Amino acid sequence: MKSASTSSAAPRPAGGDLLAAEMAAVERRIDEAIRSRESRLSEIALYLIGAGGKRIRPLVAMSVFRACGGDDPRDMVDLGAALELIHSATLLHDDIIDAGEIRRGRASAYLRYGAADTLVAGDFLFSKAFEICGRFDETIVAWASRACIALTEGEIMQGRLRRSPTVSVDEYDEIIRRKTACLFEAGARIAARVARAQRAIVEELARCGESIGMAFQLVDDLLDVVGDSSQTGKPVGIDLRDGNPSLPIVLALPTSPVLARIWQQPEPSDEQVVLGLREIRASGVLDRVRDEAVAHTLHAAHALASLPDSPYRDFLESLIGELRDRVF
Ligand code: IPE
Ligand code: MG
Ligand code: MG
Repeated sequence: MKSASTSSAAPRPAGGDLLAAEMAAVERRIDEAIRSRESRLSEIALYLIGAGGKRIRPLVAMSVFRACGGDDPRDMVDLGAALELIHSATLLHDDIIDAGEIRRGRASAYLRYGAADTLVAGDFLFSKAFEICGRFDETIVAWASRACIALTEGEIMQGRLRRSPTVSVDEYDEIIRRKTACLFEAGARIAARVARAQRAIVEELARCGESIGMAFQLVDDLLDVVGDSSQTGKPVGIDLRDGNPSLPIVLALPTSPVLARIWQQPEPSDEQVVLGLREIRASGVLDRVRDEAVAHTLHAAHALASLPDSPYRDFLESLIGELRDRVF
């Protein structure tokens, strides 16, 4: 394909000026990676990746790299692109699994291109990501693989607990650790290593990435109940419709027989979803969800204490602060 520029469509996160050059390089690396002799593969990849997305995983990783004193960003540009390719692959596959029809404010790739080609495009993106990772040492390949394995295990665990009437908070925690936090963790861990940080610092930053991921998913869950779909790019109530145990649902289930009944419906109607969301809001559990999210952001911020003062550490702190503010 001739021009597959993704950079114009990606909204720049607030405060991103500091890392603008690095993030623009990540965009170019993604552009390059999604070229294929089969134009349909590139088209499907570009359809999703060019539709926006916050690039939050490469952004966190690049910030960690710089905050750890990383100098030449070229390797981290490649690895940041790999993180976004992995994330994009999971979105393509997730919309097939959930029959998700809207993504990033428009028809999902699954709806537009069908399950078969969207499935292969996801495989294409995973393979491209590992083509990049394979240039690095075996530790980095192992960390990236571990995150991808956890993603698959998170997806299957979530499916196993779909519409479960007894799903627990611990099970919920494990699902989101696997399906979301692990990739953030791997990104931060890899970035700290590439920056040649000491082992103890690498571990601290891995914890930081994981906590950012946990908070991020909790916010995502919260926005599925109280969000504005014009901002999130997807309708509210998807978790309830799909039977995905989000924390608001897990906590509200024991308090609301009405919600519990809707939760068990294989295909709840739009009216039932609206009613279920109202039950969740009325149950008072959303404050606890907010508290959990805030606790993870505090963990994440705490893990930065071992780093020297720098504009990049400040930027990570502000990113974590923005995440915390999103819950209110
Ligand atoms: C959505 O991730 C899927 C989750 C793991 C919650 P993002 O919210 O990062 O999606 P984009 O890339 O910004 O669209
Ligand atoms: Mg899903
Ligand atoms: Mg989904």
